[in-house]
Amino acid sequence: MTRKIAAIFLLLALLPGAAALAAPLSDDSQACLDCHAQATPGIVAAWQASRHAQTTPAQAMKLGGLAAKLSASAPPPEALATSVGCAECHTANADSHPDSFEHQGFQVHAVVSPADCARCHPVESRQFQQNLMAHARGNLVDNPLYMDLAAQVNGVQQVDGAAIAVTPAEPNDEAESCIYCHGSAVRVVGQITRQTDFGEMTFAKLDGWPNHGVGRLNPDGVKGSCAACHSRHRFSMAVARSAYSCAECHKGPDVPAFKVYEVSRHGALFFAQHKDWDMNKTPWEPGKDFSAPTCAVCHVSLLADGEGNVIAQRSHAMNERIWLRLLGLIQSHPHPKSPQTSLIRNADGQPLATTLDGRPATAFLIDQAEQDKRRQTMRRVCLACHGQQWVDGQLARIDAVSQSADAMVLAASKLVRRAWQDGLAQGPAQGGSPFDEYIERLWVEQWLMHANGARFAAAMMGPDLGVFESGRWPMAKNIRQMQDWLIQRKGEK
Ligand code: HEC
Ligand code: HEC
Ligand code: HEC
Ligand code: HEC
Ligand code: HEC
Ligand code: HEC
Ligand code: HEC
Ligand code: HEC
Repeated sequence: MTRKIAAIFLLLALLPGAAALAAPLSDDSQACLDCHAQATPGIVAAWQASRHAQTTPAQAMKLGGLAAKLSASAPPPEALATSVGCAECHTANADSHPDSFEHQGFQVHAVVSPADCARCHPVESRQFQQNLMAHARGNLVDNPLYMDLAAQVNGVQQVDGAAIAVTPAEPNDEAESCIYCHGSAVRVVGQITRQTDFGEMTFAKLDGWPNHGVGRLNPDGVKGSCAACHSRHRFSMAVARSAYSCAECHKGPDVPAFKVYEVSRHGALFFAQHKDWDMNKTPWEPGKDFSAPTCAVCHVSLLADGEGNVIAQRSHAMNERIWLRLLGLIQSHPHPKSPQTSLIRNADGQPLATTLDGRPATAFLIDQAEQDKRRQTMRRVCLACHGQQWVDGQLARIDAVSQSADAMVLAASKLVRRAWQDGLAQGPAQGGSPFDEYIERLWVEQWLMHANGARFAAAMMGPDLGVFESGRWPMAKNIRQMQDWLIQRKGEK
């Protein structure tokens, strides 16, 4: 063991950046490092390269104005004078953490929740609760219609004579589908005791973990995961601002933002040039620090010009610049007022923001004045790099494409309703799922994939995806396919 400890000190001295540490470490965090440099060297190295290792909250408070990275006016006094080490995050708020376990004399929890970050970053944590993302789990599991969709996607099908039986997927299978992105419920389900290099240890046994879905329900009851974008343990701005960090969840055919961005001119410039950009500066200056927008530039970042005039405020709510919900459920509609979409009821009593014939659930959606305000905020971002005619021309196209995609969804909705009325498929009124049969699945593809393909292609400005691969061609073909199916089935009846 003594040789092991000597090796640890040697390792610590050799770790990159170790000599450059400008911030003192708390005794508690030193204790963690003494073991963890050997137990989890990858984590320690990433942390050492982070600003958390190199700055104390007291030092950070000195950076004022737009450059300030710390939003707390009074960070916890006990954590002011030391760097933000393992203990400052993993032992904070111990009383509210059912996942705390006794670990070498400390009450440690593995699941660091937004409430722990909020001790120093309260503004980001508060704003994130206004983001749809923080509610992404509840928006799914508290909406019976969406859960039916999830069951029809994830269920395992078995052929049983002429019928098809569906059995629910098992939890570890489910964990790799919807809730991977939307977020699991992390719960303590007991304890595990096992041998480690440092002897026998006992840890809290967690169910629903690993997971860093954006709307994760943490053991302390707080929603969300900051690590979804701020990869631990570097917590780097450059990573969060890169388009890659959003790709993990925003790429599939239902939500193809990254797929569009990848082929857009903005994306082309990002991929070719971002190594030469200053991805770390705060505030971020368009033109000087970077020459084309990433996802963060258009949706999140604090942007200012060379004189320090603010172009757009940072927001972790991430919807101050979004007026329209493109991800139409089932048609596009003004952005919901509350990030908890499971509360919405349309005129037919369904938990959807529009009816099947396209009427919006207006009481739950932002009004015209709010839409205009948000559009202007996005427009100001564009105007940092473009002229008005270029920008207004593009924004008008987003509206036009959304409207024509809505019309194509309406056509498909008419066909699926005819199938239900004529008894050719079992819809909700007949006690069936609206998502399981063949014609219903064609209808789902119309709004969930093809219409979104067209709308996202206009919004993220890379039309390729919205013409043949997704969008227009498949929408047009799908309507013909649905109609053909109806005609054939009617003939058989
Ligand atoms: C005596 C050595 C030692 C000390 C001191 C120590 N740890 Fe650990 N810790 C370990 C080992 C060994 C593991 C198990 C690693 C593994 O899963 O193989 C571990 C695991 C963990 C885990 C993961 C638990 C899980 O369920 O996956 C966390 C979080 C953690 N330690 C945090 C800390 C923090 C924070 C401190 C300081 C307050 C600390 N540790 C102090 C040795 C130590
Ligand atoms: C700024 C806060 C912060 C600091 C500082 C920090 N962590 Fe973490 N740590 C996190 C977050 C966030 C997670 C992700 C847990 C989750 O969300 O499920 C995490 C996860 C972990 C895990 C479990 C996940 C895994 O990959 O096994 C271990 C072990 C761990 N941290 C150890 C450490 C050690 C050791 C240090 C010090 C070198 C440290 N942490 C410093 C925030 C922090
Ligand atoms: C005890 C206070 C404290 C806690 C807790 C804390 N941070 Fe920090 N955070 C800081 C300080 C100090 C800085 C560095 C500010 C500076 O360099 O000016 C920082 C910087 C950051 C940055 C900017 C990094 C960069 O590269 O510019 C991010 C992102 C961040 N923290 C996220 C988090 C997240 C997420 C959590 C929770 C998992 C967290 N922090 C917990 C104090 C804290
Ligand atoms: C790879 C990540 C990922 C997976 C896996 C995923 N989603 Fe999503 N989901 C998203 C994203 C991203 C959005 C938001 C897109 C937007 O607003 O443009 C979203 C939004 C939604 C919404 C809208 C919720 C609302 O009312 O605000 C529903 C419903 C939904 N997803 C259902 C599902 C179902 C059902 C599954 C599993 C069968 C699933 N998702 C799997 C990433 C994912
Ligand atoms: C771990 C998965 C995940 C990652 C990573 C992720 N998102 Fe999301 N995002 C989602 C899900 C899921 C939703 C939809 C939640 C819902 O509708 O309930 C969403 C919704 C959004 C929304 C709509 C917010 C609103 O309130 O209208 C925006 C904007 C967004 N994401 C932008 C981003 C950006 C920018 C990044 C990268 C910096 C990113 N997301 C990274 C999963 C993710
Ligand atoms: C969906 C992705 C996403 C999630 C989730 C997220 N952030 Fe961020 N965060 C970003 C982006 C992008 C930036 C860069 C903003 C900018 O350029 O001004 C950022 C910047 C920050 C900064 C740096 C501020 C500065 O001036 O350096 C802090 C601190 C921070 N986030 C804390 C948090 C905390 C705490 C949480 C959890 C409550 C969180 N973030 C969740 C994407 C995210
Ligand atoms: C040039 C600016 C720009 C860039 C870059 C950009 N977006 Fe967008 N984004 C927009 C516009 C404009 C809209 C439409 C606004 C609206 O829906 O009201 C939008 C809408 C969205 C939405 C909302 C969709 C919905 O259902 O309402 C999400 C989510 C999103 N973008 C994610 C991303 C991601 C992820 C990236 C990077 C891969 C990205 N965006 C890059 C401008 C941009
Ligand atoms: C940081 C600067 C910057 C911002 C912010 C920005 N753009 Fe761009 N945009 C560019 C550059 C640079 C090009 C490439 C011009 C070229 O190659 O000729 C471009 C290209 C475009 C194109 C042409 C796409 C193509 O493939 O031909 C459109 C349309 C566009 N931008 C619209 C917008 C809109 C709308 C916004 C705001 C939602 C916006 N831009 C925000 C810098 C920016």
